[in-house]
Amino acid sequence: MTDTIQNIRGRAVPMLGLGTYKLTGQACREGVAHALTMGYRHIDTAQMYKNEADVGAGIADAPVAREDVFLTTKVWHTNLSPEDVRRSTEESLQRLDTDYVDLLLIHWPAHLDGDHDALRSTLDAFVALHEAGHVRHIGVSNFSIRLLNQTVDHLPAEAPLFAHQAEYHPFLAQEAVLRHAREHDYLFTAYSPLAQGDALRNDTLQSIGDRHGKTAAQVTLRWLLQQPQVSAIPKAGSASHRIANLGVFDFALSDDEMTAIHNLGRGERRIDPAFAPAWSTT
Ligand SMILES: NC(=O)c1ccc[n+]([C@@H]2O[C@H](COP(=O)([O-])OP(=O)(O)OC[C@H]3O[C@@H](n4cnc5c(N)ncnc54)[C@H](OP(=O)(O)O)[C@@H]3O)[C@@H](O)[C@H]2O)c1
Repeated sequence: MTDTIQNIRGRAVPMLGLGTYKLTGQACREGVAHALTMGYRHIDTAQMYKNEADVGAGIADAPVAREDVFLTTKVWHTNLSPEDVRRSTEESLQRLDTDYVDLLLIHWPAHLDGDHDALRSTLDAFVALHEAGHVRHIGVSNFSIRLLNQTVDHLPAEAPLFAHQAEYHPFLAQEAVLRHAREHDYLFTAYSPLAQGDALRNDTLQSIGDRHGKTAAQVTLRWLLQQPQVSAIPKAGSASHRIANLGVFDFALSDDEMTAIHNLGRGERRIDPAFAPAWSTT
């Protein structure tokens, strides 16, 4: 059995989480309860997913104490003024039926990219939620290196940057942002870790999987979680996929296998909306 946690600033974070985008209603409630029952301890949601109430109900249904679950939600980019951060997060907590989230993320920087004052005001509102006990840790998502540097520089020592969530899978190398996470000791969470299903069809991943008696999906998740500082949040609407994705802690990839998967990187970004930041800014 290999490690199932990443230690970030003294906090143990379960490195495999359940992504919940496009999972709503009863399927979401039952999926979250099932995941926690099977051993997941990390759930990822967002205001934009319109499923926070379902996620909260799933956590309440599961035979797992709230404090044993690492729960992340995200503030949508239309809610980034300080007043909207406070109000919308309070609404998230009500829907999630909890007093706190473990991690609150800026979902997308949008207009904060290029408006340093606005970024500072948004971060100050996050720090106020941390001080009030509503948010254990502060993080960001879809940030460029420039935005990450501005964030690290602005946040106070008592509420430092804890996590950056970004797209990461074998077809999208993320060396620069990963290096930044390691240099500044925060978690790097890989979203769309299975390249939204495309990883399953790759010959290299399949043949490595054959050697270990694992699927291409399990090899992909193992490759991510075997990297320092990295966690992953595959979405799995089906119970069999949720269970399969837990099967990544009983084998390890060799250095050559890790390198072969790194070599698949070809800059394929699947999520790149009009309000995305200038990714390459340093
Ligand atoms: N911060 C952001 O801006 C952002 C953006 C995108 C995503 N995210 C987060 O990241 C999560 C995951 O990303 P994603 O949903 O885009 O894509 P993903 O996790 O890469 O892929 C999900 C797809 O893979 C399938 N799958 C899962 N496990 C499998 C397995 N063991 N074998 C075969 N197929 C499997 C799922 O099928 P079934 O559902 O049918 O089981 C689903 O079709 C999201 O749910 C969300 O929480 C965050």
